[in-house]
Amino acid sequence: MSDIEKILITEEQIKKRVKELGEQISRDYQDGNLVLIGILKGAVVFLADLMREINIDVTIDFMSVSSYGADSESSGVVRILKDLEHSIEGRDILIVEDIVDTGLTLAYLKDLLESRNPRSVKIAAFLDKPERRKTEITPDYLGYTVPDEFLVGYGLDYAELYRYLPYVAVLSPKVYNK
Ligand code: PRP
Repeated sequence: MSDIEKILITEEQIKKRVKELGEQISRDYQDGNLVLIGILKGAVVFLADLMREINIDVTIDFMSVSSYGADSESSGVVRILKDLEHSIEGRDILIVEDIVDTGLTLAYLKDLLESRNPRSVKIAAFLDKPERRKTEITPDYLGYTVPDEFLVGYGLDYAELYRYLPYVAVLSPKVYNK
């Protein structure tokens, strides 16, 4: 695709890494009561793949949030557009994200979910951009650490496009410099 500068993580690499994460999560939550909470919309692709690599009982739920303030960057104050459908009391929560950038969204969500009396709250993120971090948040399960470039695909968008790409790619600057 001409809008793509280069592919950073191939479909094969993604499949292998997600399988490893699924195996690790299945082992760690053997005696658990696991619920995957996907943060819409970016996490949808990773969550759909991850849940099929988990071989213990698991349920899923979703939240949709939007950051107040600056347009393309998190402000740390999060507005809930869609809340969970089910109680998480006593459950083992795994928040599923496509990417951790500043970490502000996850810091807020982790605190919020912890206040609802779950048994545990951990984070699974497919990508991590540690260079951008503004708060101390570390994913408990991580696919890949990536450089601070404009990435799309595997759930990540630019103006809502490219989420469907089955790989993670660097977007060509000509697309956003138009
Ligand atoms: C992205 C991503 C995380 C958040 C990470 O979502 O899915 O939720 O930003 O940024 P942070 O670490 O700086 O807080 P976005 O708001 O772009 O929504 P989307 O998932 O619908 O694309």
